[in-house]
Amino acid sequence: MSLEDILIYIEKQLDTYLEQYCDKNMQEAIAYSLKAGGKRFRPMLCALTCEAFSSNYKKAIPFSVAIEYIHTYSLIHDDLPSMDNDDFRRGKLTSHKKFDEATAILAGDGLLNLAFEILIDNLRKNFSKDILEASYEVAKASGTRGMIRGQILDIKAENKNLNDKEILDIYENKTGKLIIASMKSGAILGGANEKELDIITKLAYNLGVAFQIKDDILDIIGDEEKIGKPLNSDIKNNKATYVSIYGLEEAKKQYNKLSREVLDGLKNLGVENKLIYQYLEKLINRES
Ligand code: IPE
Ligand code: IPE
Ligand code: MG
Ligand code: MG
Ligand code: MG
Repeated sequence: MSLEDILIYIEKQLDTYLEQYCDKNMQEAIAYSLKAGGKRFRPMLCALTCEAFSSNYKKAIPFSVAIEYIHTYSLIHDDLPSMDNDDFRRGKLTSHKKFDEATAILAGDGLLNLAFEILIDNLRKNFSKDILEASYEVAKASGTRGMIRGQILDIKAENKNLNDKEILDIYENKTGKLIIASMKSGAILGGANEKELDIITKLAYNLGVAFQIKDDILDIIGDEEKIGKPLNSDIKNNKATYVSIYGLEEAKKQYNKLSREVLDGLKNLGVENKLIYQYLEKLINRES
């Protein structure tokens, strides 16, 4: 089993669940954004963390699918004219440009609801305390004390100067929480103990913050073709980012430091021979 095998399996399941759970009237708009590409970073993290503890990543698949649906909804809404007002995503027109705003809002709502239908259906069919706990992690992380908190703080911070604590609060919530939930739910499903969960939570926090710093760096010096979205979205909206606050070089330094800590955390857990280590080692050098 390779990283490629797991990615292919996840891609297939993203489609299969859509066919099973989504009403025909919403399928076109939802599939448009979902199948536009995307790294599938969060579903891979979830499956690979589960695999690291149990050698059985398939138990995590309903979670991988639900998390990618939640993430895709967040991107559709993030691009709306009332938020970041971007016209391209994953190399294609954004949902509101391809269709219209009403359709984009409903495609986002639809994906969010589908995620919870999938999680709850999985729970009723395969009930266990672990599945219940893992589901709650995802619910909490994507809510008003997680990603939505981060998104509202991000919007409120436009045209403002932020201090260290404030910018970290935004990153932790808008990006970090769903990344933490991806790894934590995978670890719970894989049977990790309390101490291991604690290490996973800490390293996923660093990973989440690093991931957003890299996103901000790529917003300035990335290759538009590769990242599939327009450059300079943050400058256009006067966003507070690590780069705007500390400068490009310091942002890169912070990124490298956090990335090293992530790999050290995995070594601490004794999983450096597992696929999750291989995956993150590769991802740290991402250009998209
Ligand atoms: C973009 O996420 C939004 C952030 C939270 C930084 P990704 O970089 O994972 O986007 P896709 O899924 O690959 O399109
Ligand atoms: C988005 O952050 C985080 C989300 C929760 C969607 P950004 O606004 O920087 O993400 P991109 O650059 O549009 O993908
Ligand atoms: Mg945004
Ligand atoms: Mg954006
Ligand atoms: Mg960005």
